[in-house]
Amino acid sequence: MYYSKITGLGYYVPENIVTNHDLEKYMDTSDAWIRERSGIEQRRFFKEGEDTVATMGAKASSIALERAGISPEEVDMIVFATLSPDYNFPGSGVLLQRLLPFREIAALDIRTQCTGFIYGLSIADQFIRTGMYRNVLVVGSEVQSNIFEKSTRGRDFAVLFGDGAGAVVVQRTEDPEHRILSTHLHSEGKYAEDLMLEHPGSRLQDRLWPTMVEEGKHLPVMRGSAVFKHALQRFPEAIMESLETNNYTLADLDLLIPHQANLRISKGVQEKLGLRDDQVYNNIQRYGNTTAATIPIALAELWEADRLKEDQLICLAAFGSGFTWASALIRW
Ligand code: UT7
Repeated sequence: MYYSKITGLGYYVPENIVTNHDLEKYMDTSDAWIRERSGIEQRRFFKEGEDTVATMGAKASSIALERAGISPEEVDMIVFATLSPDYNFPGSGVLLQRLLPFREIAALDIRTQCTGFIYGLSIADQFIRTGMYRNVLVVGSEVQSNIFEKSTRGRDFAVLFGDGAGAVVVQRTEDPEHRILSTHLHSEGKYAEDLMLEHPGSRLQDRLWPTMVEEGKHLPVMRGSAVFKHALQRFPEAIMESLETNNYTLADLDLLIPHQANLRISKGVQEKLGLRDDQVYNNIQRYGNTTAATIPIALAELWEADRLKEDQLICLAAFGSGFTWASALIRW
């Protein structure tokens, strides 16, 4: 029997730190509002010419590969999660493929936004368990700071989202104990329009039109309170599903790493499940919401802080645009 295991973790965030006070200069907001409503204190914004989604993914991947002790030539597949690809097409997986000395391997982009990393991990797990691949690289990378507008009109997004990348190497193991135990993936497309970036899209005859920017049609839209409400329901469901499937209870859980959308959501989930502070990891204070990158950045930070110990039971959980939600349970 083949199983899969995370063997290397890395992350990269742009150097450019943007505080809440910096945002106050561009829009009607305040450090106090942002901290109180989201827990965010600062985030990173990329600099054109220095970073792209693909190059940030490559930097995080190089670190993850080195820590896994394998070379790019040994990777069998790239799974790249992003909502902010360098190009509309081709995807970011192939752009990463050419940045490091990979072979001519499979490169797959996935488009499930905040749950992209867990969906990617699940894909890696399936390909490894069937015996098709030994080594899969799963990457989450986002440049979101140029999607929203740094203005009062764009503040719904501007205060919450940031840029960054994380990557993990998933490898075949025959150890039935220490591995990815299960993944659970869900969607409910009837809420697609509650958190979306519609234009430029293919639904209209003209993808672009002269007054588009003036009308703000190029900006993402979010029904924040609806997202918040659904998140508070779906996070606990996904976490409990992963535990119950494996015959565990909340008491067995060593660490929950929730997707970092809002500290109030993480705290709400923690409270609902009765988890202690040391059982839940949050870093949104420093990076904001980096969408597909939040969970691999958090995992890599925990590894660097020597907080991932053998035998720990770790749950990853995410909710976001789609709506999609997902969980993964890992025995480290
Ligand atoms: O990965 C998934 C992605 N997204 C999420 O998970 C987001 C989920 N939703 C949320 O995190 C929250 O709904 C938000 C942080 C987006 C908003 O928090 P809220 O507590 O739901 O605030 P609100 O939208 O109800 O706005 C409260 C007030 C309003 O003013 P009035 O009507 O009370 O006078 C807003 O106009 O705050 C005002 N406001 C702001 N003020 C300063 C809204 N956005 C801002 C802002 N800065 N950025």
